[in-house]
Amino acid sequence: MIVVLGSINLDIRFGVETLPLAGETLHARGRSYFGGGKGANQVLAAKRAGAEARLFGAVGDDDFAKIALRELVEAGVTLSGVAVVAEETGSANIYVDCLGENCIVVAAGANGLVNFEMVVSAVSAMQGGILVLQQEIPFATNRAALELARLHGVKTILNVSPFDATSAELSRLADIVIANEHEWARLNDGQVGHDAMREWCRRNDKILVVTKGAEGVAVSTAKELFEIAAPAIRPLDTVGAGDTFCGYFAAELDRGGSIREAAKIAVVAASIACLRAGAQPSIPLRHEVLSAMAKPQSP
Ligand code: RIB
Repeated sequence: MIVVLGSINLDIRFGVETLPLAGETLHARGRSYFGGGKGANQVLAAKRAGAEARLFGAVGDDDFAKIALRELVEAGVTLSGVAVVAEETGSANIYVDCLGENCIVVAAGANGLVNFEMVVSAVSAMQGGILVLQQEIPFATNRAALELARLHGVKTILNVSPFDATSAELSRLADIVIANEHEWARLNDGQVGHDAMREWCRRNDKILVVTKGAEGVAVSTAKELFEIAAPAIRPLDTVGAGDTFCGYFAAELDRGGSIREAAKIAVVAASIACLRAGAQPSIPLRHEVLSAMAKPQSP
């Protein structure tokens, strides 16, 4: 069972030729509405990877929530832990250019009201399974959930995204930390590279996963370090690729896979997610990922 505590957004996606500069007004090529939010995307990825998946978070009593939750409902994610609160559903304005690069501005809305009480009984009752967190809900809620998980021996994965001043403190409480290259550099005061990864894992007794976009992923435990290359692709939209990685990685660990096996399948899932528009519609099903893995790579 994968339990995700995290954000739920309505993503408003604008396709643009180039990303906007300060003070610039641009014409969009089109506008679409998708479910989003790092928590929601990650729980959906875990579900599409075949895990039993449950989401804890909050939405408003509004039309945004209907779109934000639509794909989760269709996929069969358990949503009984999603509270309806007196705030608008969170939203994100997302600009994606013709190279697939993006910039995102998030308004937290209801995500800012996610509190520890919403998740305490579920985490206390977890027998096995993995609790997955990111940083689009209040810090105090994440910290309390991580502390409680530790008390109950529940394995935790923290995706330090979006990175902020509290990421280091939260990382100390998680079993596995997933960061992209920029987040990892900030987490370790600019010290990157294999030696720095190994040293950080030894010092903190953690597993560290650093996602590197087109280059794949580097994984370090206290004992070993390895890299997994990503398939060569031409990305259309990278929004949600990191979330796809996190959800797949958690689901594969939960089904008994090794860290290496989990990273391997998650890298391929994330690369497929870059081939389609929108964070949630682009998350592949497990059978699509397995058949992509079975195909020989073109040189
Ligand atoms: O990681 C992508 C997500 O970040 C988007 O779905 C958006 O909602 C923001 O939370």
